Amino acid sequence: MDNDDKHVLVTGGAGFIGSHTVDLLLASGYSVRVLDNFSSGCVANLPQHEHLEIVQGDIRSRDDVSTAMLGITHCLHLAAQVSVSRSVEDPYDSATHNILGALNVMQAAAQAKVTKLVYASSAAVYGTPTQLPLGEETPLQPLSPYGLEKWVDERYADLLASLHHLPSLGLRYFNVYGPRQDPHSPYAGVVARFIDRMLTDQAPVVFGDGSQSRDFIYVGDVARANLTALFSAQCGICNVATGQRIDLLELIDLLTQLTGCLLPAKHLPAKAEDIHHSYGDPQRLADWLSLTPQWTLREGLSELIHDYHQTMVRHTAPPLIMNA
Ligand SMILES: NC(=O)c1ccc[n+]([C@@H]2O[C@H](COP(=O)([O-])OP(=O)(O)OC[C@H]3O[C@@H](n4cnc5c(N)ncnc54)[C@H](O)[C@@H]3O)[C@@H](O)[C@H]2O)c1
Repeated sequence: MDNDDKHVLVTGGAGFIGSHTVDLLLASGYSVRVLDNFSSGCVANLPQHEHLEIVQGDIRSRDDVSTAMLGITHCLHLAAQVSVSRSVEDPYDSATHNILGALNVMQAAAQAKVTKLVYASSAAVYGTPTQLPLGEETPLQPLSPYGLEKWVDERYADLLASLHHLPSLGLRYFNVYGPRQDPHSPYAGVVARFIDRMLTDQAPVVFGDGSQSRDFIYVGDVARANLTALFSAQCGICNVATGQRIDLLELIDLLTQLTGCLLPAKHLPAKAEDIHHSYGDPQRLADWLSLTPQWTLREGLSELIHDYHQTMVRHTAPPLIMNA
């Protein structure tokens, strides 16, 4: 099969991680169809391209999903209700996206006999770490409905692999950062929020003493992992992590150097539910997909700051949107 014989469906392709992956798939010569309900993603995130088709539809609709799956050889499932706090406030609604919607996609992919399904899981499946780094075999104890939903997706993918021979790989992303992450969303990641404040002469806000550490991975590396996973024979579960942790005060130090904002961080009381330290073991990513992260944190943050200074609006006519 040549690259242009491979037709990739990306659910949630108009979002942050999805749109970067779509860019990479198109640049690599694949045909791409995006299925998105544009609840948080937007058409402006996507390029106009002869091999890109954009379909407005919802993964909670079996009709939308099965129509979007027609002619597809590979499927990347990213669409989700992505907010941990919203999943706590309304677990039922969250589950309709993250369990039933995911099941619609997996079932349709099995019926279409796709060559490979890759889907977004999350480091949220681990909960409070009992050991570090977090390896794929670490016992799971999610702390939120969101984390539990991603775990259920992993179990369903495993079951459908044996029931319907659906080859799948679930990717547990750690803290992804990069351009197109909306800093004004109440659910925005800490990197986007710090940069937005520091570039507008406001002090970054830290909950607690700032000693919390995370494994920050640049979205370009996540897009590489998605693409490689789609065309690899590996099935199961794999972390998408750098294996390095940085605490929030170190992050602010680095951003101070890169932005020139000298305002000291404003500290608010720690959040009880905040995990103190988290970072992933990237060994399986290296062994299974031959990938190591390409962007250092300094390089990724520089890209993001550069992008922030560019206009966020693409000066192109919006691509054609079709209804599923
Ligand atoms: N960003 C991170 O740090 C991170 C970490 C771990 C896991 N993830 C997972 O990665 C995936 C992508 O996340 P993201 O950060 O790009 O978020 P995002 O909000 O930018 O992208 C999600 C996309 O899905 C679409 N969508 C949401 N509900 C839908 C529905 N019912 N039907 C169709 N489309 C729908 C949205 O419009 C959006 O375009 C998600 O599954 C998320 O849970 C992200």
